[in-house]
Amino acid sequence: MRDYESDDDIIKEGLLKKGTNKEDKMENVIIMEHPLIKHKITILRDKNTVTMEFRKLIEEITMLEAYEAFRDLPLKEIEVETPIEKCMSPVIDGKKMVIIPILRAGMGMVNGVHAMVPAAKVGHIGITRNETTHEPESYYCKLPSDISERLSIVLDPMLATGGSAVEAVNYIKKAGSKNIKFMCIIAAPEGLKRLSEAHPDIEIYVGNLDRGLNENAYICPGLGDAGDRIYGIV
Ligand code: PRP
Ligand code: URA
Repeated sequence: MRDYESDDDIIKEGLLKKGTNKEDKMENVIIMEHPLIKHKITILRDKNTVTMEFRKLIEEITMLEAYEAFRDLPLKEIEVETPIEKCMSPVIDGKKMVIIPILRAGMGMVNGVHAMVPAAKVGHIGITRNETTHEPESYYCKLPSDISERLSIVLDPMLATGGSAVEAVNYIKKAGSKNIKFMCIIAAPEGLKRLSEAHPDIEIYVGNLDRGLNENAYICPGLGDAGDRIYGIV
């Protein structure tokens, strides 16, 4: 297990850089710094946070992360008539984006993106981690046929070994997607490195970078099993 004291130790080691400043090796990684995100993640981690609140927090954090992730969406000017006069004003340009949650836990993040972009399409990709090997096993994939013309937003709250995320992006690229962003809430350094190296051409948005993985490949301190907590399975 790689053991770091804090994000700052990892940064010192030159593994990656915080914030939106992209200047070093893992320049496709953006770690959130907003106090609202940090605060909500703390409540999310608490084992006493109940299912309903957990689900709401996942949505809220995703919404705030989406705000960062969508900074570079292209705009075009359209004419609009205000009560005062006509003017040209910007709207999002291009085909609607497709949100792709990795089942099951990724589903918890869909409403958070829809709160920002209500017209986004939704594709689904089913991947589960083998409990013994921790390797990903795919069981479902339904993506829009014109995915090559859309921005793909892959959602999964947990990036642990990175196996599931790498596999999901493999599928999405095979389906023709050329413009991909990955959003997670908690990442382990191991998974972040694996995803960033396997897919250096995608942007990876991370709510918080945790210390590392334990012997069961769970993120520490993490928040436990995200899918179980979203769906109230004990
Ligand atoms: C969890 C999580 C990720 C994966 C992360 O899903 O939601 O998809 O594990 O682990 P990895 O980075 O080591 O691949 P899980 O496989 O438990 O399925 P679930 O969403 O159905 O609970
Ligand atoms: N999946 C989870 O839900 N949590 C972890 O810590 C690792 C994988």
